Amino acid sequence: MTRATATEAGAEKEKEEEKVGEKGKGEPSALRFRLVAVLKCSADLNEDAVAELRKFVSACNEGLLKRGAPAGCGAEIVSFKVLNGNIELEIHSDRFVRAHDALLRFRKNLAPILGKYRIGLRGIEVKKYEIEMESQGLKLKTLPFVKSISYSDGNIVISLDLTESDLERRIPDRILRLLEEKKEAARWGGKKEHWELLFESRRKEFFFNKDPTEEMLRRGWIRHGSARGQWIYGPQVTRLFRAFEKILLEEVCYPLGYVEMIFPKVVSWDVWKRSGHARAIYPEAYYVCVPKTRDPEFWEDIADYFKVTGEIPTEKIMERIENIGGLCYAQCPPFWVFLQRRVLADECLPICIFDRSGTSHRYESGGIHGIERVDEFHRVELVFIGTKEQVIEHAQRLRERYRIVFDKILDIEWREAWVTPWFMAQEGRAGVASQKEVGTIDFEGFLPYNGKWLEFQNVSINGDKYPKSFGVKLQSGRELWSGCSGVGLERWTAVFLAQKGLDPENWPDAFKKFVGELPEEVFKFV
Ligand code: SER
Ligand code: ZN
Repeated sequence: MTRATATEAGAEKEKEEEKVGEKGKGEPSALRFRLVAVLKCSADLNEDAVAELRKFVSACNEGLLKRGAPAGCGAEIVSFKVLNGNIELEIHSDRFVRAHDALLRFRKNLAPILGKYRIGLRGIEVKKYEIEMESQGLKLKTLPFVKSISYSDGNIVISLDLTESDLERRIPDRILRLLEEKKEAARWGGKKEHWELLFESRRKEFFFNKDPTEEMLRRGWIRHGSARGQWIYGPQVTRLFRAFEKILLEEVCYPLGYVEMIFPKVVSWDVWKRSGHARAIYPEAYYVCVPKTRDPEFWEDIADYFKVTGEIPTEKIMERIENIGGLCYAQCPPFWVFLQRRVLADECLPICIFDRSGTSHRYESGGIHGIERVDEFHRVELVFIGTKEQVIEHAQRLRERYRIVFDKILDIEWREAWVTPWFMAQEGRAGVASQKEVGTIDFEGFLPYNGKWLEFQNVSINGDKYPKSFGVKLQSGRELWSGCSGVGLERWTAVFLAQKGLDPENWPDAFKKFVGELPEEVFKFV
């Protein structure tokens, strides 16, 4: 920060500080704001102007800075001084009229008064802005825009470094919201995501008690890819994936009126800002970067380095690329750009679409995992859009269809649970949505080899979140809702094979109709 302070600008002209307010008056809550700011004027204030300013400050303390607050609460200008044509104010406040709001109110109403003396307001310099609140278990080392954080008597005091435009952008309010969120997270701390059993299927017969990934490896059905958490699926398991897709299309999507689309697989930050992923995705994203320039000369030394050493100079590459977003993570968010800022005719609802055009990517926790936990996975994503009633009803029909598939075709043992909505979990939140209809149902399959349940797909009612954040409206003005359902092909495979094994003779007839004969051995190794 290289802003000169008003004191440096003209200490010799400094007038005696005028005490006008009563400090610490009221104390309705633990939240306190202390702001020192300088309003820069275009010229010196003469005595008349100063006298009028003094009157105006008193009036503000009586009215303007208390407006909207309960009696005895609000903001207060506790002192001000005029120096070298600048007005320095100290404002104290509580949660009702936050000090920065008080300052902006004051400035707005001061302008016409100074105008009478042909003095304009040039800008605001924030010399000090402290917020004090109960720490409630918060232990923070740093926050954006924060100069320092200290703790005393169970309180946390944060000192902010702000410009005028930061005040206008309401950065202090956003920091407070962030602090509340962190407190909330600390309260949840350690607690698991919400989980509530909704349904359990009949018991089913199991034909296998091993880990299917190991058995597939043994038989040469799969092999690790060269990237992290990635498999190469051989012909047999690919046939299984395709059979699952066929079942999904013929038994779920087509009967319910779904049509296929192709969603993008590189996701820009703009999408993730709107979807809320920008709040938490960082440790799990696969980042996408583009060259700063296509100029081959810019890249020649990198290519030469590889040619000479056989090594990739990744650090040098990092300096020459820029990040634009990441690879598909949740699948449905980038679809919404198709509807962004558009008005839908009511008559086309409900809209049901699906995408199966590519992989999803998550940087999973390390270690060796089977096909059920991978960085690169295959999923069919169903999206349904309609009025609130339509979306709720559709989610129910979708669930019924899935049940027929799992019970009658795959013949697996599964259960369904009401969990933290996927979009909240992916924003780093716990709990359930504030509206009881909004949320996610996880479908979990039993794994006989380890006695655990594996989430293999979900059905979600996302409320108005997506239409709202992408500015999609309905012609009638009614509220637009949406939902989605992600069908993980690796997960379906992991559950099905864990219960039924790899030998087709143990697979249900209804399923075998979709698979046909597994491909013959294609690769022979010596
Ligand atoms: N988009 C949802 C999710 O990521 C459903 O696939 O969980
Ligand atoms: Zn989705």
